[in-house]
Amino acid sequence: MLKALSIAVACMMPALASATDYGIGHAIDRNAIASWDIDIDAAGHNLPAGSGDVAHGKQIFGAKCAMCHGANGEGGVGDPLVGGIGTLSSEKPKKTVGSYWPYATTLYDYIRRAMPYDAPQSLSADDVYAVSAYVLYLNKIVPEDTRLDAKSLPRVKMPNRDGFVSDPRPGKL
Ligand code: HEC
Repeated sequence: MLKALSIAVACMMPALASATDYGIGHAIDRNAIASWDIDIDAAGHNLPAGSGDVAHGKQIFGAKCAMCHGANGEGGVGDPLVGGIGTLSSEKPKKTVGSYWPYATTLYDYIRRAMPYDAPQSLSADDVYAVSAYVLYLNKIVPEDTRLDAKSLPRVKMPNRDGFVSDPRPGKL
């Protein structure tokens, strides 16, 4: 029993000692990681304040997205963002934001994080809501008078919302 205890204590030692022994690293506070902590989950937790509508999104799309994704989101250098709804079970499935992505909140997370491709994280919160609304409108998922915010975006039901199945294997993430 005593032996087992001393082994247990010995195993803990490196973890306890490392912060001081090597003289490197320091505790980090939440402010320092805030600009990296921008994940938005399916339910929309962490969506920022602000809002944007389809009309404003159309302007942003024309100025900052169309050169790569096509004037109507049909694709170019960048992926097609529109179309393919209803094709997933066909012989030629067309996977786009509209046909494939199960959650509208992912659109906000992805555009804010990664687009425009040549200037990621340059759009304001309002602009990301607006351009998300426009991409959803192009896919006929929301009507033209739509304005999206942290409350309404998670409520948008994507056509492929129920098209995914859970992975039943043990040990999955
Ligand atoms: C310079 C070219 C370029 C510009 C400008 C650009 N994109 Fe993209 N976009 C890409 C490329 C390339 C990809 C694929 C990236 C990858 O797979 O890693 C992509 C991927 C995407 C995707 C994911 C598509 C999918 O089905 O996986 C979305 C959504 C998107 N872009 C939206 C936008 C929006 C909205 C804008 C404007 C605010 C924009 N993009 C501006 C090149 C661009």
